[in-house]
This record gives sequence, structure tokens and C-alpha cells, in this order.
Amino acid sequence: MSSTPDSQVSSSVEATLIIVSIVVIVVKVVIVVVICIKRANIGSESGAPDSRFLTLTMDKFLNDMERENPIRFTSQQLRIATDNFTNLLGSGGFGAVYKGIFTNGTIVAVKVLYGNPSKRIEEQFMAEVSTIGRIHHFNLVRLYGFCFERNLRALVYEYMGNGSLDKYLFRENKIIGFSRLHEIAAGTARGIAYLHEECQQRIIHYDIKPGNILLDVNFSPKVADFGLAKLCNRENTHITMTGGRGTPGYAAPELWMPFPITHMCDVYSFGMLLFEIVGRRRNVDDSLPESQEWFPRWVWKKFECGEMGDLMIVCGIEGIDREMAERMFKVALLCVHERPQLRPLMSVVVKMLEGVLEIPIPTNPFQYMMHGIPYPVLPGHTTQTSSFPDSDSSQIPFSRFVPGTPIMTRYEIEIAST
Ligand SMILES: Nc1ncnc2c1ncn2[C@@H]1O[C@H](COP(=O)(O)OP(=O)(O)O)[C@@H](O)[C@H]1O
Ligand SMILES: [Mg+2]
Repeated sequence: MSSTPDSQVSSSVEATLIIVSIVVIVVKVVIVVVICIKRANIGSESGAPDSRFLTLTMDKFLNDMERENPIRFTSQQLRIATDNFTNLLGSGGFGAVYKGIFTNGTIVAVKVLYGNPSKRIEEQFMAEVSTIGRIHHFNLVRLYGFCFERNLRALVYEYMGNGSLDKYLFRENKIIGFSRLHEIAAGTARGIAYLHEECQQRIIHYDIKPGNILLDVNFSPKVADFGLAKLCNRENTHITMTGGRGTPGYAAPELWMPFPITHMCDVYSFGMLLFEIVGRRRNVDDSLPESQEWFPRWVWKKFECGEMGDLMIVCGIEGIDREMAERMFKVALLCVHERPQLRPLMSVVVKMLEGVLEIPIPTNPFQYMMHGIPYPVLPGHTTQTSSFPDSDSSQIPFSRFVPGTPIMTRYEIEIAST
């Protein structure tokens, strides 16, 4: 039987299809074999991937890193974001802070640094950029970026919807309930503990105070302003209580006395902050009777006499909050001890505030200050070192011994160290 032309065509098409299929299968097999050989090579060459693989990995890594690092903005970009710096959020010793919004919807706080480009401002700027920009913690404010131009030096922070804690402690009193205040204290302590004990290089804040504790939309606390953190390494011949280091009322006595300065100065400031948190009042208030004027001393007096109940009544703390308030007062008394080495570490403070660590009975933290007698260690002595070695600590030269008193703190007395 002879085949028709039609059946001849269909069988040749079938043959072609079979050949094409075989070729495709062979090509696939070859590709799989080549890939397997390559993978085997990558594994066998002492773990060294081929250059293409390496480039891809590095690119991804660098991109990820870039997102973690501060971004550099132009002054034009910041002008647009802040609507030409119209919405002022507040101002402090180093600059004014404006609200801004970027086109992607991110709301920011832009801190424009004061003054002409002087060495001091440059140092402050660089210190902030290099420290905060690389640090990420739930209780630390995030630095998104910066601008460094002749006409504008600014820092761009994440925006904190509820502003700073001072507003709630001293002005909008009672908006925040006591247990939230306790959480704010513990969160702040966690942020500082991270700076002191978990960063690769210890960071001393130097300016812990209610204005530097910012609250996000959920009232979670974030410690702000690390601007002073790295200035401890600079030449320091003149320290003023209103200038570079700390704020009167929160600055530890060793900042203006002949003691080595360590991270324990932040513990002192945190203690002062803690008194204000529990008391919802400024530590110094000369509108009150003299015995209550300086709150920390009054707390100590009441604790010493076993009359903490009086404090609770005056502070308006009731019911189950009293136990927690007493705990917080005790921690505050421990933190503000005039001798830095007797203050607890911030990680210990966290545990005491969380209630997982027993709180030792505080001793008089103001023994020397209250009696106006000199502290036991004078310049040149080396016994007054922290119980926690600190590579960041610096011995400040003092030629004049000035005993600390609450009065000095109150009047923001400046102390020349040379
Ligand atoms: N990231 C921010 N988000 C919202 N408000 C901020 C932010 N940073 C600062 N502020 C506001 O601006 C004020 C001034 O800040 P600052 O210049 O650091 O001075 P200070 O710390 O002495 O208060 C703060 O007290 C706070 O109310
Ligand atoms: Mg601040």
C-alpha cells in the first residue's frame, strides 16, 4: 500500500517534532549538568564563591548597609520638606527643631544647629551623626540623616508624635497615668543601658533630662540627643554648667568636681529624672515650702524617717501604684549617690524597675552635699574610680575645688575649671 502525500507530510512533521524534543531535552540536561558542576566547584573551592556570585552578595549587603546609615540631604531638600522651616517644634541649647515631611510621606524633625560654622558646632554635628546614625534600639531616637552645607547644618530625626516628656510632667500633668509613667522610666533606662553596655563603643549621653526623652504616638519613650556623647574626648579647659556638658539639676557632681567622669554621670541624671517622673514636678521648685524645695532631698528625708506615705499623698499616688512608686523612689536615691562608684549600672536599674531584682536599702546619697563638707577625694587622688572600667572616661583637670550644693544647681552657677 503506497502512502498518500498527506500522510507523508504528517509523518515528516512528527519526525521533526521528535527531533526538536530530543534536542530540547539534551540541551536541558546539559544546562543542569553545567549548573551542578558549577555549584560543586563553588562548594569545593574552600567556600569561595565565583566572582559574579560574590558581586551580587556584596551589592545586596552594601544596599542593606546604606539603608541603615544616615542619608545626606541637601539644604534645598530640607527647605522643601519643612516648608521653609515654618513649623517650630522647640529649641534647645544647640539648635531649633522643625517639623518636616518628605514626598514619600515620612514625617521628620529637622534640628537646625545654631551659629556660624565654628569648631564647636562642627564637633557637635559630627558626634551626633556618627553615633546616633549607626545605633538602632527601640528606646533610642533614630537619626535618618543630615545636611552639612555652608548655609545649613542640620540633623534629620524620626518624628516623635507626642513630643518630649517635660510637657507631660510639668505642664499637661496627669494626662499620662502612673503605670505608663513607670513604663516610660523603664524604657528610658533600657535605652541608656544599651548606650552604656551594649554598643560596640560605650556611649555616654551627658544630658539625660525630660526634654531629651521623646514620646512616640504610643507614648513609648525614646532617648534623644546624643550630641554631647563624643565630646568627652576633646580638649576641655572650661566647663560651664550651661554650656557643653549637661544641664543644671541633672548633671552629676563629678562633672564639675575633681572626679573622673564615667558613664555613671548618666546614672545620676537618670536618678534626677526619675524623681521628677514619680513626683510629676521639677526637682527644684522655690514656690514650695523650703523643706520641699529640692525634691530629692525631701524624698531622702521622708525615706529616712519611714514616712514615704506622706510623699505618696503629696504626689497624688494611690492604691497599688504606691508600691511601684516607692520602688522608683528607692532606685532614684541609689542612682543619685554623690559617689559615682556606688551608683548602680543602668542594666541593674532596668531590672530593679522591672521588679525582677531586689532593691538594696539606699544610704544617704547627699551626705557631703547636705553638710557642705568637702568630698573625700581631692584632685590628684586616684581612689575615686568607677567600679566599672570605662575606656571613655576622662579625667578633667580642675584647679579649683567647688563643693556642690543644691543652691548652686538652682542658680545655674558656672564653674571655670582653670
Ligand atoms: N524627633 C523629634 N520629634 C518631635 N519633637 C522633637 C524631636 N526632637 C526635638 N523635639 C522637640 O524640640 C524640642 C527642642 O529639642 P532640642 O533642641 O534637642 O532641645 P532640648 O533637648 O534642650 O529640649 C524638644 O524638647 C522637643 O519638644
Ligand atoms: Mg534635646
